[in-house]
Amino acid sequence: MTLLVTGGAGFIGANFVLDWLAQSPEPVVNLDKLTYAGNPETLASLQGDARHQLVQGDIGDVDLVRQLLAEHRPRAVVNFAAESHVDRSIHGPGDFIHTNIVGTFNLLESVRGYWSALPQADQQAFRFLHVSTDEVYGSLGHADPAFTENHRYEPNSPYSASKAASDHLVRAWHHTYGLPVVTTNCSNNYGPYHFPEKLIPLMIVNALAGKPLPVYGDGMQIRDWLYVKDHCSAIRRVLEAGRLGETYNVGGWNEKPNIDIVKTICQLLDEMRPKADGSSYASQISYVTDRPGHDRRYAIDARKLEAELGWKPAETFETGIRKTVQWYLAHPEWVSNVQSGAYREWVQKQYSAS
Ligand code: NAD
Ligand code: TYD
Repeated sequence: MTLLVTGGAGFIGANFVLDWLAQSPEPVVNLDKLTYAGNPETLASLQGDARHQLVQGDIGDVDLVRQLLAEHRPRAVVNFAAESHVDRSIHGPGDFIHTNIVGTFNLLESVRGYWSALPQADQQAFRFLHVSTDEVYGSLGHADPAFTENHRYEPNSPYSASKAASDHLVRAWHHTYGLPVVTTNCSNNYGPYHFPEKLIPLMIVNALAGKPLPVYGDGMQIRDWLYVKDHCSAIRRVLEAGRLGETYNVGGWNEKPNIDIVKTICQLLDEMRPKADGSSYASQISYVTDRPGHDRRYAIDARKLEAELGWKPAETFETGIRKTVQWYLAHPEWVSNVQSGAYREWVQKQYSAS
């Protein structure tokens, strides 16, 4: 038995692979293109572990994926691979169309070819788990109920539109060809190994470096924060017992305005790494130009996953953010290694006008 994980050198995928191999003897083949967001160093603790094989390649490379499927005969594919940063999708949507839509299509076709030739019992046991986002549902008003799985798809950014398209392809491959798929739509993740261009790690890293903490617009946009290890446990549970063709929303029941997140990080750093001059990290907060088309509020109703599969998050936001800040303080070398030339160019492009 083997899993084929795609995008397993990125933030969530790598946490999933590390957690999986900490609890299961089942090997993982990890197909990752190693874009700027893919980081083999995150997987360094698996070096020499015969259960893990990292293959550099594109989910859209049909020949490579077919060869991996034929060689390793996985019983499931867990698809994390994507371009995932909304701000990057605004500057350059092409890569998002290429990977999230065309790449998912090619992956589905490669997997369909493999799956349809399996013996019947293996066909029935096979799973294609597609990892998606709450952003496909669009933006909520302040008093609207949280997104359920039946919410209309109303994506607003090039990123969310490309993920919505990939969800529709996955759904269609189930309905048309019978491919045994399950899809998860989760809220904003945070935790160890998060690339420091997303809100939480960027704020921690900038605070420690004495740089401004750039809050978009009025900072009152709301996200529902999910500790990454809780997301990984949800995926394991859906892989194990999710109903075919179904979608499961995964959320942390932690709706917070961005400015509250930033202030919480500042308070934790004031406590754990006080500044020499006695001032608070909050003095570095700087309001900057808003993201175009910025979604105001996301909130996930995760009751289906709890009712059907008994999953609940283990962390509250308070416990999860404390662990996250502690992790970044303990791993400065991981941070400095990901801050490559490409990362510095991005920061220059994104924040220079503000
Ligand atoms: P990430 O950007 O940190 O990692 C993505 C990984 O995919 C990287 O390792 C990258 O090298 C790889 N990749 C990119 N294009 C590829 C391709 N064509 N072929 C193979 N590998 C490729 O993203 P993440 O935050 O770990 O997100 C993982 C998945 O979860 C994505 O599908 C994303 O849409 C979804 N998601 C993320 C969040 C979040 O808060 N981070 C929330 C909801 C959903
Ligand atoms: P982000 O981490 O990019 O995730 P997403 O856009 O997928 O939700 O951003 C989370 C929120 O934080 C979002 O409302 C945008 C905001 N944000 C800032 O205010 N400043 C920043 O520098 C970044 C990167 C994000």
